[in-house]
Amino acid sequence: MTTDTLQDFIAAIEAAGELVRVREPVRARLEIAEIADRCMKSPGGGPALLFEQVVLDDGRLSEFPVAINLFGSMRRMCLALGVQDLEEIGGRISELLNLKVPEGLLGKLAMLPKLAEVAKFPPRVRSGQPACQEIVLRGDEIDLNRIPFLATWPGDGGRYITLPMVITEDPRTGVRNVGMYRVQVLGRDTLAMHWQRHKVGAAHWRDMAARGQMMPVVIAIGADPASVYSASAPLPPTIDEFIFAGFLRKSPVELAHAVTCDLEVPAEAEFVIEGYVDPAEPLVLEGPFGDHTGFYSLADYYPKVHVTAVTMRKQPVYAATLVGRPPMEDYYLGHATERIFLPLLRLTLPEVVDYHMPACGIFHNLVFVAIDKQYPGQAYKVMNALWGQGLMSLAKVIVVVDREVNVRNPDEAWWVALNNIDPERDVRFTKGPVDVLDHASQHFSFGSKMGIDGTRKWKEEGFTREWPDLITMDQTTRARIDELWPRLGIRL
Ligand SMILES: Cc1cc2nc3c(=O)[nH]c(=O)nc-3n(C[C@H](O)[C@H](O)[C@H](O)COP(=O)(O)O)c2cc1C
Repeated sequence: MTTDTLQDFIAAIEAAGELVRVREPVRARLEIAEIADRCMKSPGGGPALLFEQVVLDDGRLSEFPVAINLFGSMRRMCLALGVQDLEEIGGRISELLNLKVPEGLLGKLAMLPKLAEVAKFPPRVRSGQPACQEIVLRGDEIDLNRIPFLATWPGDGGRYITLPMVITEDPRTGVRNVGMYRVQVLGRDTLAMHWQRHKVGAAHWRDMAARGQMMPVVIAIGADPASVYSASAPLPPTIDEFIFAGFLRKSPVELAHAVTCDLEVPAEAEFVIEGYVDPAEPLVLEGPFGDHTGFYSLADYYPKVHVTAVTMRKQPVYAATLVGRPPMEDYYLGHATERIFLPLLRLTLPEVVDYHMPACGIFHNLVFVAIDKQYPGQAYKVMNALWGQGLMSLAKVIVVVDREVNVRNPDEAWWVALNNIDPERDVRFTKGPVDVLDHASQHFSFGSKMGIDGTRKWKEEGFTREWPDLITMDQTTRARIDELWPRLGIRL
């Protein structure tokens, strides 16, 4: 079971023994980040933290506690999505995708619970006052400085909302998008929205600008954990993240109408910031920001958000994350995506046995893929297909190996791939869009990519020498030593 609210999620984390309440006063500027960084760098991701006494820039104590690193361990990521193992979700997706109609009446009847489950996915709009609107601030009452948004690194351009759900709507189709894009606080009621050009929120904004229309935007902070995670998931633009969150939760996400714009907001959110972007208005300087690459991303121009209302629960908790040199909390959010999306990847690439994006590769820099190679050149087919899919198109380096390689162990994947390549023959460069955060690409957001074919080479691929076998011990010797081991007195 997943939880319905952020505060229930925090309680579940505490019950699991993974929460530390910090009662010592600490500053929202840099100090929370330094404490969180030490935790996130510790083995397994460290504890989740709830700071109960947060000092604001003007020296006052914040009215609101700050939670951080809530998703930052395998166990908490599973707790967020209500599973024991993230693979369970991939299993549910595979079952749904298995569209073969079963034979016989009993087989068809057995499908009914699955169909009933599907009916639970779409969000429900609740009537009456939702929890997220227990307090509603408008006009002069709005002061974003009251909320303990963090300044995370010394060179940052300001304070940022780091774990938001940014809600927008496609003006052409009406399909909603929920994206996790950091937001910089510019003043009491203005923000800068960092949706990068490849992201769905940015596409909505371009469409609204082309129509010359004001664009409503909502930034929700802290809701049920499946919704928070879904904002970070690279779903196709045609899929509403709240439907996906409903699938993950096995129960619908509850929504409510925003008070000052025509969008819906998660009814259980801790804070909701409502506003609009005026496409006719000049862009504003956003950043610099200590980013998840481990480097500062440079300041650049992004749309300004004018805040029309801030709504909240009576006693909200402000939820944040910290990004920076990996590993950080976002590794676990990304890892959930990696596991959940494997069956979807296999729909178009059935030869993919597994894939992995290690923490040091910050998702878009390095992707290992293991394939069941059945014909010459298949490694190239797979890398080209990946470069043609959604945000995978931004992958800088793709390394393809054979099926038996455990790609979730980067040392093993590199060891095999580096043994198997002749660099001139097996490394290919291509061009395409690259991540906006890539500071080394030849041009901003456009550059080269490298594909490495680390599979065993076939005769048809021009390899005429004999290919050696991997070294493994024979079964008989292994079994004999297994039996002897307890008597050898060796402790490893
Ligand atoms: C903690 C965190 C912060 C992120 N910050 C940004 C950001 O500032 N801008 C951005 O475009 N993507 C950011 N992302 C990545 C997007 O959330 C991710 O690409 C997501 O799939 C975008 O949703 P969309 O496909 O609906 O646009 C961030 C992800 C995480 C986990």
